[in-house]
This record gives sequence, structure tokens and C-alpha cells, in this order.
Amino acid sequence: MSTATSASPSAAEANFARGLEGVIAGETNICSVEQGKLIYRGFEIHDLAEHATFEEVAFLLLEGHKPSADELRRFKIEVIAERALPAEVIAFLKSCGPMIKSGAAVPMDIVRTAVSILGNLDKDAQDNSPAANLRKAKRLLAKIPTIIGHMQNVIDGRAIIAPDTGGDATLSHAANLLYLMSGEKPSKEFEHVIDVSLILYAEHDYNASTFTSRVIAGTLSDMHGAVTGGIAALKGPLHGGANEMAMEMLKEIMRDVGEKGIGTPAVDSWMQNAFDTKRKLMGFGHRVYKNGDHRAPILHKLGRSLASKDTRNPGGHAAAKWFDLGEQVQKIMLDKKKIHPNVDFPCGLTYFTLGIPVPQYTPIFVASRVSGWCAHIMEQHANNRIIRPLSLYRGPAETKWNK
Ligand SMILES: CC(C)(COP(=O)(O)OP(=O)(O)OC[C@H]1O[C@@H](n2cnc3c(N)ncnc32)[C@H](O)[C@@H]1OP(=O)(O)O)[C@@H](O)C(=O)NCCC(=O)NCCS
Repeated sequence: MSTATSASPSAAEANFARGLEGVIAGETNICSVEQGKLIYRGFEIHDLAEHATFEEVAFLLLEGHKPSADELRRFKIEVIAERALPAEVIAFLKSCGPMIKSGAAVPMDIVRTAVSILGNLDKDAQDNSPAANLRKAKRLLAKIPTIIGHMQNVIDGRAIIAPDTGGDATLSHAANLLYLMSGEKPSKEFEHVIDVSLILYAEHDYNASTFTSRVIAGTLSDMHGAVTGGIAALKGPLHGGANEMAMEMLKEIMRDVGEKGIGTPAVDSWMQNAFDTKRKLMGFGHRVYKNGDHRAPILHKLGRSLASKDTRNPGGHAAAKWFDLGEQVQKIMLDKKKIHPNVDFPCGLTYFTLGIPVPQYTPIFVASRVSGWCAHIMEQHANNRIIRPLSLYRGPAETKWNK
């Protein structure tokens, strides 16, 4: 049997869309995701990736318009001033080594908890006014790279880098993120590649994590809570966690076929086995982009160019080999299944080429997407109606407790 609250069974069946596929669940002025184009507040993603910086894109999303030179300068100063973490969050991060080592927590869980603690310490936490929300959004944007950096320092067993300032104020958001993690100031090329990846990851309309954040904000709950929920949703391998899982999958293929197997039918056999066992291949497919994700080729080109120069050798193989393998996997997936890579596939390869530890790939996604989440939380608060859909009841028919 099937019924839905406040709807006739047949109407409910007719309106039901599994996974909300194709359902328009709200309005937004922030982003448009279509097969043909990805637009952030009127600007197309190729244009932004080529001509804007992540700071400009974050301003665009949060403040609603392209910044003037003066507005951008002010925004950067404000964000840089907020990079340092409260002592309580530093203490939590210093204690996270055993949690990660034991396997109970992964870096995404640590970021989620750190953001939640930040909420407990933010004097604006309970204030949902536009001005307070904007202040909190800038703080979150500033502090998440510092959380990631300090956590990586703890994992690496080294002293925390610049805890008082949250990094080097002369560095861009992208460069500072890499610096906080490794203690090394990145080359201009590395900085550019990370910057573009942050632009590509910043916003994507009603994706699962943003929708989660909007549902939380729609109860008039607070921004830190809504971002914490967004992080939990992003972690999943069907969403942001796919950038880590895509790289893990490539490592598995490399282990199974060996370096000499790249470019040979050994990879086809591996893939055929995955198809036969109905395995989901990470970094492929998309709910909206059935004919390809606009963001993937942009990042693929940058990552491939970096790997071809072979500036680092993080996995014990020349970095270009990983792109060779990735391209072969992509081709087989397209030929056999007509499924395109999404942005997480080249992201995994690109971050690997940059020498970033795999468990930090999704936290870096957070460092970017927080700008989109906060823009959506503000939009939800500004024109709120609680988000409360119906469900199709497929449980047992009514019966008496005391028969
Ligand atoms: C992104 C994703 C969750 C979209 O899910 P969705 O819209 O529900 O897609 P569907 O399940 O309707 O996919 C349609 C068909 O393609 C197949 N498919 C989709 N993505 C696939 C993948 N990555 N690997 C293998 N098959 C895939 C599905 O199994 C399904 O086949 P079927 O009709 O024989 O059952 C899904 O493509 C996926 O799990 N991808 C891997 C995880 C990932 O990369 N996530 C990041 C997204 S940006």
C-alpha cells in the first residue's frame, strides 16, 4: 500500500520523484546549473575560471555582485583578519591525531566538529540578521583553511604553522591554504591550479550539501549549524567525497594492473569487472549533467599540464602516468557506459599531482563550497519558508496496539 500525508495515493504516486530528481525545490538568485551552462550570479564558469580569483568569486557569491577594486581590497583585509582560530578550536585540533589514527574520524569529521565549535564561540552565533550572517560567512571562509592546515600539521606530527595569524597575510586564499598545510609557499602555478579548483567548487545550486544547509536554515536555525550539516552531507562519496574516492580507485587500478598495464587491455579488463559487479566508479556521472560536467575539462587541462611537467612524484610514479591511467579509464567509461567524468575525477588527479594528502581533498572542497553554502543560507533566511516535503508511506496498514 502507499499513501502520502495530505495527498491522495494516486496523486502522490504521480508526483513522486525518487531522490527528488527533476523536482524544483526552491528559487535562487545565486547559481544556475544546466546541461548547457554553469552560471554564478550571471557569470559563466569558464569566464570566472579564466579571469577571476577565488576571492572575487567568494565576494560575488556572498555580497551578490562583482566587486570593485576597492570592495575587493576591503573584503580581502576583512577575511585575512579572521584567519586565526580561537584557542578552543586549536586545542581540539591538537587532540585530533589519535582520533584520525584510530580510524574513528577522518579529516572531514574533524572539520565538521571544528566548525561546530566555532559556532559555540561566535558572538554572532544566534543572530540571523543579514549583517551578522555576512560577518559569520567571512569568518568561516577565513578560518576553514586554517582548520585544514592545523589538522594536517598535527597529522604530520609537526608544530602548528602560524597559529596567531592563520598563515601569511601576504598570501592569497589558495596559496595560504597550501602554505598552512605544508609550511611551503607554493609556486605561482600551484597557487593558480588550487585557485581555479576553488572557483569551480564554490557553488552548484541545490546540490545535496547546499540543500541540507538550506533545510537547516529554513527552520531559522543558525549559520554554523547549517554549514556543519552541509559538511556532513558533502563528506559522502556520492557527493564531495568522490574526489578522494576517485583517487583511491585509480590507486587500486594501478596496484592491480601495475604501471606497465597502463594503456593496455589490463585496464579494460579491470573496468569490465567493475561493470559486471555493478560497481559505482567514483568521479563519474552526475544528476544534472548527463552529457558532461562543464568543470571537469577545465581542471583536467590544468592538472594534466602540471603533471606533464612532472614537478613532483608523490605516488612513486611519474605524475603524468596517473593522468594517462585516468584518461584511459575515462575513455572506457564513455565508450562502454556513455558516462562522463564529473569535476571530482580530475580534481583527485590534480590534487594528487600537487602532493596533497588524499584525505584532505574533500576538506579543501569545504574551504571553497562554504562560500556557496553561506550565500544560500543568507538567501534562505532573507525569504524564508520552512522546507517540509511529503513522503509516500509504504508501511503496514493501520492496526490496533491492543488487539
Ligand atoms: C553522481 C551520482 C550520485 C548521480 O546519481 P543519479 O543521478 O541517481 O544517477 P543514476 O543512478 O540515475 O544513474 C543512471 C545510470 O548510470 C549508472 N551510473 C551513474 N553513475 C555511475 C558511476 N559513477 N559508475 C557506474 N555507473 C554509474 C547508474 O548505475 C544507472 O545505471 P542503471 O540505469 O543501469 O541503474 C552517480 O552518478 C554516482 O554515484 N557517481 C559516483 C559518485 C560521484 O562521482 N559523485 C560526485 C558527483 S559530482
